[in-house]
Amino acid sequence: MRDRVNRVVLIGTGAVGSSYAFALLNQGVTEELVLVDLNKEKSEGDAMDLNHGITFAPSPTKIWFGNYSDCKDADIVVICAGANQKPGETRLDLVEKNINIFKGIVNEIVSNGFQGIFLVATNPVDILTHAVWKFSGFPKERVIGSGTSLDTARFRFLLGEYFDIDTRNVHAYIIGEHGDTELPVWSHADIAGKKISDWMNAEGNFKQDDLDAIFLNVRDAAYHIIERKGATYYGIAMALVRLTKAILQNENSVLTVSAYLNGEYGHKDVYIGVPAVVNRKGIRQIVELDLDEDEQQKFNHSVEVLKNTMAPFF
Ligand code: LAC
Repeated sequence: MRDRVNRVVLIGTGAVGSSYAFALLNQGVTEELVLVDLNKEKSEGDAMDLNHGITFAPSPTKIWFGNYSDCKDADIVVICAGANQKPGETRLDLVEKNINIFKGIVNEIVSNGFQGIFLVATNPVDILTHAVWKFSGFPKERVIGSGTSLDTARFRFLLGEYFDIDTRNVHAYIIGEHGDTELPVWSHADIAGKKISDWMNAEGNFKQDDLDAIFLNVRDAAYHIIERKGATYYGIAMALVRLTKAILQNENSVLTVSAYLNGEYGHKDVYIGVPAVVNRKGIRQIVELDLDEDEQQKFNHSVEVLKNTMAPFF
């Protein structure tokens, strides 16, 4: 990793990528941001447009439209390129198309001397993060997917609304596939250190059906947003900025990212959303929660769906 200024290279400046670039600039997270995309015109326009806003940002970020040679000195390469879900499509429906796109992208990045950390957002993110790990030959801790970081944020937001508590005081995780088989870890969900089940009993006017509805809203959030506006991009962009910050600022924060399991949660050789400690070197360790029987069974199913889906490709 270079000692000089922080550099992030963004591959793919579609809705997610350009929202990420905009959020990164506005939070003043990095000194350099390089935009790489097949659509040169659009990316050059993005770089110009963002540069014109620099004076309003909390700190200066040097932004330019570049190419894969800029990866050599990058600390993080964020991959948002690829096809995204259309109405009625699941994330897993995108797997073949995007794995083929990723083969070329990862080869270009690695052959240009990149030595930093991969951060993957393109869906199906768990399988594509696995693909980046396979194609790059990088150590598993330096290949991270956005995983269920956005799902966990959605979960905490809706629980905060329901209990009328600041979302930052809600500690609850969504783990598993970033998709239809994800699951809530109710057995370890608390607000201000008090288990949610105790909040339910103490306050008396909260209903389990409401909590179940909250989880379904989290799981299906992307479908609901896509039905309305055609795509999701702000939430995932902010999740990616959060992850970028945790890496560049060596935070050792616990975030539910797509991480490689090597026995944790009873599984091996799969990238999937779990709580993990994230710092400048990537994933320091996976946090293994003691799941109850129902949660473990749902997690096992999520692993099985991911492994079955990626089997024809690896
Ligand atoms: C979503 C996309 C990022 O959940 O999969 O909004």
